[in-house]
Formats: sequence, structure tokens, C-alpha cells
Amino acid sequence: MSPRIIIGCAVLAAVLSLILHVAINSPISPQPLSPPSLTFKPNNLLQGVEKLGEGKLHLPEDTCIGKDGKLYTATRDGWIKRQHVNGTWEDWKMIGGSSLLGLAKSMDGDIIVCDGNQGLLKVGEGGLTVLAKDVEGTKILLADDAIEASDGSIYFSDASSKFGLQDWFMDVLEAGSNGRVLRYDPIKKRASILLADIGFANGVALSPEEDYLLVAETLKFRCLKYWLKGEKKGSVEVFVDNLPGAPDNINLAPDGSFWIALIELRSRWLDLIHPYPLVKRTIAAFPKVARELSRMMERRAVVINVDGDGKIKKVLDDSDGRVVSFVTSALEHEGHLYLGSLHVDFIGKFPL
Ligand SMILES: *[C@@H]1O[C@H](CO)[C@@H](O)[C@H](O)[C@H]1NC(C)=O
Repeated sequence: MSPRIIIGCAVLAAVLSLILHVAINSPISPQPLSPPSLTFKPNNLLQGVEKLGEGKLHLPEDTCIGKDGKLYTATRDGWIKRQHVNGTWEDWKMIGGSSLLGLAKSMDGDIIVCDGNQGLLKVGEGGLTVLAKDVEGTKILLADDAIEASDGSIYFSDASSKFGLQDWFMDVLEAGSNGRVLRYDPIKKRASILLADIGFANGVALSPEEDYLLVAETLKFRCLKYWLKGEKKGSVEVFVDNLPGAPDNINLAPDGSFWIALIELRSRWLDLIHPYPLVKRTIAAFPKVARELSRMMERRAVVINVDGDGKIKKVLDDSDGRVVSFVTSALEHEGHLYLGSLHVDFIGKFPL
């Protein structure tokens, strides 16, 4: 055989084995995605935050104000921590693991916790209860954020029914619709599915009248409005879209507007490959490459204030993430915003 034929056969074999490897090993069924273009003028106002609990709060993704008026957060080392009036932080309850995400106040004084591993939990002086780890015969894979209604129902998100917290980036690459919105019924003591096919169901918030629920659809750069009461009950519409970032947690503000944290799920490389499912399928078959790609996200922090009609009223940012970055939640309380983050080891306190 001539060398040319041998080289040709070798190249062909290499290509075929790559195709086979990708076909067997790619965990994703990707969709093309064209993220919206980002246009707003940076103001870097968030560079003025005060750092609460610096060094003591490892990756505090979310915060809530408990029934006792104290500020609570869940840290990546498995603790629920709270701040006393004198400013000190207490390691309040140990839950364990490294997958604690959204928190919410319960009327009975407990704190509701979304554990990206265990499901929907509740913790208080009476101990820890697992409220829901399954829904309608399927596992809750990535409980993400929760809110308790005045009737005791808990609305919460299962960010993905396909990938757990460790593999969240596969969901980003896939850009599919694996998320769900669930409701926990406190009387029947079980969860049911309200909405499915959400592109990473993330933050949830109730309107002041509890007539609708907002849900962040992270991978689609938009938030949805799900009607709980009235003639539109059970229907869903787009609340705000084309956001200059991927929405994470949502919190109702005292004036009836909402604070939405926008995380950076973009980079030059990701934008380049997102429109091409085959490229994404190939990258996902090589976990090390995918992991490198997941580390290349931009670092800035952005939070927006949106009124009840979905109009953006305010944008606050730290455009290059100099002081605070990857802000995942913004909670307004007594004239300040409290910022959670998955990049820093403090809670940002920003005067409004
Ligand atoms: C702060 O308040 C907590 C709770 O009341 C208390 O346990 C702690 O000792 C106080 N710390 C300081 C430094 O005053």
C-alpha cells in the first residue's frame, strides 16, 4: 500500500472513532441558542457594597429574612448561618453537603431550604425535615429556589430534571428545557408539577397579591409569569425577556417591584459555539474540555429592578467584577439590598 492510502485510512479511522466516542459519550441533546445582545451602560454602583461576614460566608448563594427579622444565608460548606442584631454571624444549623441554594422564610419561624442534592427541606429549632425529594414519581434533581405562600403552599423550582448540580454546565450547553416549577402541598405533604419544560427553572417570587408567580428561566434570558388566581389561572406568559444576563434569584421588593440577579452564563467561546448543536455535543463528550469552558464565564455582577408590568426600572452593576461578582440574589430589606454570590465569601450590603 502507498503511504498516502495508509495515512488516509488512519485519518478516516480517527474521525470514525471520534464520531463513535461523541455518539456514545455525549450526555446532551443540544439545542441551538442565540443569546440576546447585551446593551446597557455600566455604572459600577455595586462596587460600593459593604462586605458582610467577609471570610465567614463561603459562596452564599441566597439570603432571606426570617420571621425573627434576622438575615439568613446558606453557605457552600453546608451551614445555614444568620446575623444577629449586633452584627455577629452565628453558625445556626448544619445541613451538610455542598449544594445548598435558595432560602425562604416560613411562617412558623423555620427556614425553607432548597438543597440541590436532597430536595426541599425545612429547618428550625425542631430539627430538619425533608419536605419533598420526589414529585409525581420522578426525583427532584436540582431544587433551586422556594417561596412560601400565605396558605402554607411552597412554590419551588427544580432547575433540571436531567442534570444535577455537579453537571449544571451540561444543562447550559444543552440549552434545552429540563426545568420544572413545583408546588408543595402542606396538607397532603407532597409536591406536584405546575410547569414543565423550562430552560433551567431558577428563582421564584410571588406577587404582592399572590395572584401570580414569577419564575426565572435562566437559559432563555427571561422570566415567566404563572397565574395562580383569576381568569388567567393556570396560564403562563413572558414577564420580561431579552435580559442583559441570565436571571437567577428573584425577590419581591417592599414597593411591589422585583429584584432580579443576572448571572453571566456567557463568554466569547460559549457565544461562538451556542448556535451549533454538533459542536456542543462533541464538547460535552469530553468532560475536561467542558469543565475548562465552564470556568471562562465573565465575572461581572448585575442586578435589575423590574416593576409589576415587566419594565426594567434600575440596573446596578459591577462591570468587571472588581468588588463583587457572579451575584445570584438581591434582597431588599429596610433600605438596603443584600447580595448573594457564588464567587465571593461575603454578602454585599448596598444602600438604596
Ligand atoms: C451578639 O448577639 C448574640 C445573640 O444575642 C450573642 O450570642 C453574642 O454573644 C453577641 N456577640 C457580641 C460580640 O456581642
